[in-house]
Amino acid sequence: MTDPVSAWHRLADTSVLLDGFHALKHAVRFGAEIPVAVAVDRASALALADDLAPDVRDTLDALLAEVPETTYRGLVPRPHPTGVAALAVRPSREANLERLAHTARTAPVVVLDNPRNLGNAGAVIRLAAGFGVTGVVTTGTLDPWHPTVVRGGAGLHYATAVERLSVAEVPPGPLFALDPEGDDIRGLKLPDDPVLAFGSERSGLSAELRARADHLLALPMRPQVSSYNLATSVAMTLYHWSATGGTINQLPARGD
Ligand SMILES: C[S@@+](CC[C@H](N)C(=O)[O-])C[C@H]1O[C@@H](n2cnc3c(N)ncnc32)[C@H](O)[C@@H]1O
Repeated sequence: MTDPVSAWHRLADTSVLLDGFHALKHAVRFGAEIPVAVAVDRASALALADDLAPDVRDTLDALLAEVPETTYRGLVPRPHPTGVAALAVRPSREANLERLAHTARTAPVVVLDNPRNLGNAGAVIRLAAGFGVTGVVTTGTLDPWHPTVVRGGAGLHYATAVERLSVAEVPPGPLFALDPEGDDIRGLKLPDDPVLAFGSERSGLSAELRARADHLLALPMRPQVSSYNLATSVAMTLYHWSATGGTINQLPARGD
């Protein structure tokens, strides 16, 4: 068996860090390829799995290698309370593009147009996973696989297709852009397969994205308030999509 610490050092620069038990649990559930996983206290980690995630217990039993606490602290930027960490393979751009381009889509694609805040991007990926969204696309310079985004997403990047694209590459489908100046979203039933676009925290929707939009939609908000936070706007919009007939699919895990 390969020494987990050597494997970690060999793979760390090119892998996705899964920080903590819950991130590892989610990544396993959604089919991530995980070459190395460590725990300071393997028995406690497996007891946590027995309690909270019996569906992945056997997989974790096979994956987790126990390492001394000092070794663990040397592997991760900051220790997680569960003392668990793993490295996962980042899905290829080609695989994500294929999932995003799949045309018989029955769930939305969320587009974040030039997001600036890594925590917002992570929160949106977690929402997208919960609502069975096909994918989360970002435009602009932010890397949606940045370690802080992955931490915010709790390992749920593997439950949807997360990719950075240009506005011209945004997948096809009726594009609904969210903007406080749009039509009230409450008057509309969204289709099954919308592209739902949200603007940057600083400057809102770009001119390029607006030009692609089929509809501008507003979330209810009283006049004295300028705007909502980006991630909460995505939450309300996905909730509206599901509450007006959108079906939350049980998407197959990666590789199925
Ligand atoms: C923090 S807001 C952007 C605020 C920015 N200063 C602006 O000029 O629009 C981030 C994004 O959340 C969405 N959003 C926020 N409040 C909204 C509302 N009341 N209706 C529709 N979308 C909203 C929009 O997509 C917006 O671009």
